[in-house]
Amino acid sequence: MRPHVTVNIAMSADGKLSTKERRQVKISGNADFIRVDELKAGSDAVMVGIGTIIADDPSLTVKSEELKRGRVSRGLDEHPIRVIVDSRGRIPVNAAVLCKGPGTRVIGCAEVIDPKVRSSLESHATVIIAGKEKVDLEGLLCQLYGMGVRDLMVEGGGTLLWSMFERGLVDEMFQYVGNMVIGGRDSPTPADGEGFCINDLFVMMDLMECVRIDEGVLLHWRMRPSAPAP
Ligand SMILES: NC(=O)c1ccc[n+]([C@@H]2O[C@H](COP(=O)([O-])OP(=O)(O)OC[C@H]3O[C@@H](n4cnc5c(N)ncnc54)[C@H](OP(=O)(O)O)[C@@H]3O)[C@@H](O)[C@H]2O)c1
Repeated sequence: MRPHVTVNIAMSADGKLSTKERRQVKISGNADFIRVDELKAGSDAVMVGIGTIIADDPSLTVKSEELKRGRVSRGLDEHPIRVIVDSRGRIPVNAAVLCKGPGTRVIGCAEVIDPKVRSSLESHATVIIAGKEKVDLEGLLCQLYGMGVRDLMVEGGGTLLWSMFERGLVDEMFQYVGNMVIGGRDSPTPADGEGFCINDLFVMMDLMECVRIDEGVLLHWRMRPSAPAP
């Protein structure tokens, strides 16, 4: 068993998540910021890859005091469980996600992690070992389910998302398309990694909703279980 997985990303009109130097860009506006905070507050856990932690140093906390109070009144921690996918434990112990705000942190690692690194991380987070060289995402999700995680929000980046799509581990996606062109053949996109070939089965989706928010548009997609390539 695994949690229901909802991806949330913001990309430019030309399909980039950030710049070619992997610097974070404010792609959406205040209304979308509130929507994302609500999605996070309604999730049991929020997950990112180590590339996003190193590039952006996000805290992954719920920002609205009202939403935090709402979670506490439902008997939950102020913030969802924060999960980092990090095979070798590269996360700095002073990363915002490990230091800011109360709550549970999980670092998903692989067997290749140095035992000394693992024990140093264990004083900051629950370390889950899944997979040999890279994190076995099915294994990690299964263990998160065992911890009570039913709704998992995944916030990127493109390398982690490609693996999630490729393995059929995504159920829904909210994709904000902003009013800018970032450009760059090496700039991150919503699904980097190897990519499919022409004879592979692509990940197919149904468009559930399309709404104008701030100066861009929000697309809500639901994954089809599996479908042949066009
Ligand atoms: N606009 C947005 O919505 C948004 C959201 C998030 C991020 N971003 C941007 O995306 C960029 C970061 O993305 P990124 O692609 O570099 O990093 P990422 O997807 O956040 O993290 C990728 C890393 O996760 C680790 N990992 C472990 N097991 C994995 C597996 N099974 N599959 C995939 N990854 C695995 C790998 O590092 P190890 O091998 O060391 O474990 C891999 O390099 C930044 O520029 C950030 O600003 C934008």
